[in-house]
Amino acid sequence: MNKTKSFPENFLWGGAIAANQYEGGYKEGGRGLGPVDFLPNKDEDRVHVMYNPHLAMSQTFDYYPSHKAIDGYHYFKEDIALFAEMGFKCLRLSISWPRIFPQGDEKEPNEAGLKFYDDLFDECLKYDIEPVVTLNHFDTPIYLYEKYDGWTNRSVIDFFTNYATVVFNRYKGKVKYWLTFNEINILQVLPFLGGSFDQNKFENPTQAKYQAAHHQLVASALATKIGREVDSNNMIGCMLAAGESYPNTCNPDDIWEAKMMDREGFFFIDVQVRGHYPSYSKRFFEEHNLTIHQEPEDADILKNTVDFIGFSYYSTKVVSGDEKVLSSAEKTDGNIFSSLENPYLPKSQWGWIIDPKGLRITMNTLYDRYQIPLFVVENGLGAVDKIEDNGDIIDDYRIDYLREHILAMDEAIKDGVDVLGYTTWGCIDIISAGTGQMSKRYGFIYVDVDDWGKGTFKRSKKKSFTWYKELIASNGDIM
Ligand code: BG6
Repeated sequence: MNKTKSFPENFLWGGAIAANQYEGGYKEGGRGLGPVDFLPNKDEDRVHVMYNPHLAMSQTFDYYPSHKAIDGYHYFKEDIALFAEMGFKCLRLSISWPRIFPQGDEKEPNEAGLKFYDDLFDECLKYDIEPVVTLNHFDTPIYLYEKYDGWTNRSVIDFFTNYATVVFNRYKGKVKYWLTFNEINILQVLPFLGGSFDQNKFENPTQAKYQAAHHQLVASALATKIGREVDSNNMIGCMLAAGESYPNTCNPDDIWEAKMMDREGFFFIDVQVRGHYPSYSKRFFEEHNLTIHQEPEDADILKNTVDFIGFSYYSTKVVSGDEKVLSSAEKTDGNIFSSLENPYLPKSQWGWIIDPKGLRITMNTLYDRYQIPLFVVENGLGAVDKIEDNGDIIDDYRIDYLREHILAMDEAIKDGVDVLGYTTWGCIDIISAGTGQMSKRYGFIYVDVDDWGKGTFKRSKKKSFTWYKELIASNGDIM
């Protein structure tokens, strides 16, 4: 048995889900729609549609996974009881913006939506589970896409801050930990999910993306300010899709390319932690012909910096600066970013590189760079689970993945990194964001639904359920 003692007493062990992948109930309680509600599943070419939102808006598909998801809208009490049984100290979830403001630009919120989250947070607090709440997890109301071109339009900042003000006030005393935008850097890759706009509509898509990024950074800083004014106990963080870029070789071109790749994400965190644009952005904007429109007050607004850095970690990536290698080498999938193959490491069934030590490396890099607490708010293995004849699900592969990553996190803490907590992604099986599949399962709890929404929705415990329960009970000592 490995004995590790580095996790602090108040370490926030738990799990993470997101409204659009968990709740379903897509029209219940007066909810409006979000981008994900227009996405089909993998078999109907979800990935292609995500990059071409005009298809999402103009075509009808046979099945929309988010509409029912795993029906958390009705099952949440049962699910939270199971999380409590595992001893969760926290549950990361998101508020669906279109549940609170169905269009996004209304002045007054939808009471039924607010009440739903009151009930949900109360249920968590009943078991002393601390909610960790993301304000925007791929959930900018679709009306804002249609009417305003989403985050490319500055007006969306006001709509977002109105929404943030409402939920900060409503849940004061119930929610202390907040994240502003989930994986804010996803905007550069999947602007429909991250920013509710179609980059194909713009003459210079990069310009549109960085303008939208500026608006989100201003909105995030304003939300941070408002959150603190409403309750000085609030802890407000940013959220990065993280994972170190490794150079393919020691060729300086590869080293530089890896640095550039990491900067794409750090760009956001540099602003959110330091309160101003990084020095390297000037040259980047010039060379890409980008003119980011800023209002005079923005520089001051951005000074409202975050308390901690939340991040997702699934894998590292391998990067090359050599055109020949890039055009000929094998590539593999990853969370948001694809990568060259890493011959030293295994991959998941979905081709994501499995690199526990990469978590330690990533955490050290983030902490060296920013020196504020980190929160690992997503980590986990998407895998196909098999149900044995007796109903058991022996997910040793998931246990192994999580154990190795938690051990790597332990090493990072021993390296001196300050970490608030760890929430495994998809602690109960939910819809995959990337593929829309249910068969890509991350949970400790199995949900009987297939890729086409068929099933009983019955919840059952996998082997990893007991393992994680014991791990939490021992504060990470028993792995
Ligand atoms: C992150 C997202 O990108 O990765 C989650 O924040 C997502 O919403 C997770 O579910 C895992 O990706 P996928 O595609 O396996 O669901």
